[in-house]
Amino acid sequence: MQIKTVGVLGCGLMGAGVAQVSAASGYRTMVREVNQGVLDKGLGRIRKFLEDGVAKGKVTAEQRDQALDRITGTTEFGAMKDCDLIVEAIVENVEVKTAAYAALEAVVGAGTIFASNTSSLCITELAARTKRPDRFGGLHFFNPVPLMKLVEVIRALTTSDETYRALFAFSQSIGKEPITAPDKPGFIVNRLLVPYLLDAIRCYERGLGTIEDIDKGMKLGCGYPMGPLTLLDFVGLDTTYYIANIMFDEYKDAMFAAPPLLKRMVLAGKLGKKSGEGFYKYA
Ligand code: CAA
Ligand code: NAD
Repeated sequence: MQIKTVGVLGCGLMGAGVAQVSAASGYRTMVREVNQGVLDKGLGRIRKFLEDGVAKGKVTAEQRDQALDRITGTTEFGAMKDCDLIVEAIVENVEVKTAAYAALEAVVGAGTIFASNTSSLCITELAARTKRPDRFGGLHFFNPVPLMKLVEVIRALTTSDETYRALFAFSQSIGKEPITAPDKPGFIVNRLLVPYLLDAIRCYERGLGTIEDIDKGMKLGCGYPMGPLTLLDFVGLDTTYYIANIMFDEYKDAMFAAPPLLKRMVLAGKLGKKSGEGFYKYA
């Protein structure tokens, strides 16, 4: 299976990062968003990351220009028709993802591999909702995608050996370190990370410390790059809320239950960095 053209569904926090690393690694990359405004914002995020990389001396101006040249933004599913691999990075909702796969299947060839960047949904269920359960798997990237080295490669019960190998090889070809993770809610990393993040919210709700002190405690006391409440703002409180509900639904374990404050912050539109306010305010 030779992958030459990569499609990315969604140009939000994750989709923009996946499109960027794909293009920077030499793949012609098509990225699809729901409307031109969101697409322009996502493409702007890619451009800014690459420009910052040039300013930091991590990327040459030529590499930046080549990566940008390889990316085509679109709002049409039809533009994805020649993609060999499509990485889906849209909202963490099984119905929305399923509708997007159906729209894609109407235009792509039989050999195209689909991969979901879902944080917590069942890969076997997503695969079963397509007409290509053998050519479907999970590719779980980490935020910020251009900087985080890990990708979890997840096999659905139906994923063929060939598809699994292609997804693993693709992850390596874009400079990532893949690990194989089981098709269990949260895979490996979120199984461990999500209870910690939710617990940090519960601790804050119960008056354990200020937002700043909880974050400072974990950052300086344990050497974590970000405190948990900063990391929640970074991941997105809406995305965290969806993940918590999906994991709780499957495990029925209180450690995955969304804390009341998380639900209320999402309802109030305080989604973290992406909306300008979460636990912290962003200019
Ligand atoms: N282009 C190229 N390189 C860049 C860059 C850019 N635009 N911006 C930064 N870098 C490089 C820097 O030069 C630096 O490289 P060196 O280490 O070689 O010096 C490195 O990236 C780190 O950059 P900074 O020093 O500017 O930033 P930082 O030290 O504050 O780190 C961070 C930023 C990497 C985001 C760090 O804070 C971190 O690791 N945070 C935790 C992130 C995390 O946990 N992510 C996972 C979230 S959970 C998830 O994703 C799964 C899910 O399903 C929810
Ligand atoms: P986000 O809200 O930043 O972006 C999602 C984007 O998808 C939005 O821009 C939206 O307009 C777009 N979209 C919705 N429906 C679409 C469709 N049919 N076609 C094309 N675009 C569509 O969310 P995100 O944080 O990038 O999360 C995306 C996925 O990645 C989720 O499944 C999430 O669980 C997963 N994920 C998130 C993180 C994280 O740290 N935020 C990390 C790993 C995985």
